[in-house]
Amino acid sequence: MSEPRTMGAMVYGPGPDIREVRRPVPEPADGEVRVRIGVGGINPADWRNRRRYTGDEPVVPLQDGAGVVDAVGPGVDATRVGERVWLWETARQRSGGCAQKLVVVPADRAVPLPADVGLDVGAGLGVPAVTAHRCLTVGEGGPERLAPKALDGRTVLVAGGAGAVGHAAIQLARWSGATVIATVSTADKAALAEAAGAHHVVRYRDGDAGEVVRGLAPDGVDLVVELAPDQNTELDLRVLAPGGTIAVYAGGAAAFPVDLGSSLGANARWQFVSIFTMAARAKEAAIAAVTEAVAAGVLGVGPEAGLPVHHYPLADLGRAFEAVEQGAVGKVLVDVGPELG
Ligand SMILES: NC(=O)c1ccc[n+]([C@@H]2O[C@H](COP(=O)([O-])OP(=O)(O)OC[C@H]3O[C@@H](n4cnc5c(N)ncnc54)[C@H](OP(=O)(O)O)[C@@H]3O)[C@@H](O)[C@H]2O)c1
Repeated sequence: MSEPRTMGAMVYGPGPDIREVRRPVPEPADGEVRVRIGVGGINPADWRNRRRYTGDEPVVPLQDGAGVVDAVGPGVDATRVGERVWLWETARQRSGGCAQKLVVVPADRAVPLPADVGLDVGAGLGVPAVTAHRCLTVGEGGPERLAPKALDGRTVLVAGGAGAVGHAAIQLARWSGATVIATVSTADKAALAEAAGAHHVVRYRDGDAGEVVRGLAPDGVDLVVELAPDQNTELDLRVLAPGGTIAVYAGGAAAFPVDLGSSLGANARWQFVSIFTMAARAKEAAIAAVTEAVAAGVLGVGPEAGLPVHHYPLADLGRAFEAVEQGAVGKVLVDVGPELG
């Protein structure tokens, strides 16, 4: 009798360590594909989930990654074998994420990557780009899906333009025709937001950022993509155009103050965004638009595209998590199958 085939995976829990284990090679069931992972992408939620994990079962982390389809289950087009793909929500309600050599996902969570787009790009799309797409499509009157000209005539303010979500928001907004203003803390981050395509970059620690944004957008901004509402509420309401939307996708505090008078006066819309609970229709629109943008050369990585990348071998996943926790600027990637290129 032959031994079951196994593969390498990194896990956390129970306990604090991240360690290497062998797991059985998974077989794709009906409607599923198996993907050989080339690169995994780490998001801040990954290290936070690890910190608060109290379960008994080891967890293979990483929602995001990119690789090559190496097997398909019944009902899936067999020609998909060999297809390069980017993955979203790999680990959600599944037995493991991209910190392993092979992963099985429903076929629609493995999205074809255009031939000339690298796996580094694909591994950074899932959480950041889908979140950014949702934030950019929650304004009154839509659009529901981004595309060239979809945001023509709109002005978008992206808080934290050198972050992974901020970078995707700048690039998708610019691709869709918006005028893009980004805020950042430092000169180095300003250079990244500019490289990503922001028309204007404002250093929010230097002087009165609200005044500067008001000068750049005298009629106000139509949409704010916000990750620090506890710190930026006043700024956002000062620069918001009547009928504008503040899309909040993160925050450092459990609660934040909202000025009722300014919010009512502006007919403001406060819209909260969580990638995991957003409607399926919004997710489908995001995945289609993000794939189209990638094919058009948008959402690149590297300093020249405004998003430096930092590579770690899979065996160093613990150090990669630490880098994200310590606020690495750019995207932290894990080389799971370097042979895939
Ligand atoms: N709701 C969701 O579904 C969802 C999805 C994705 C991410 N998130 C969360 O969103 C946050 C960002 O994720 P990420 O992957 O983009 O992280 P990241 O790459 O580490 O970027 C975070 C950025 O936040 C900026 N920042 C911090 N305080 C700021 C402030 N007061 N004003 C403007 N910018 C500020 C930082 O830059 P500066 O130094 O320039 O301030 C940094 O560039 C994380 O907390 C993550 O967990 C939520």
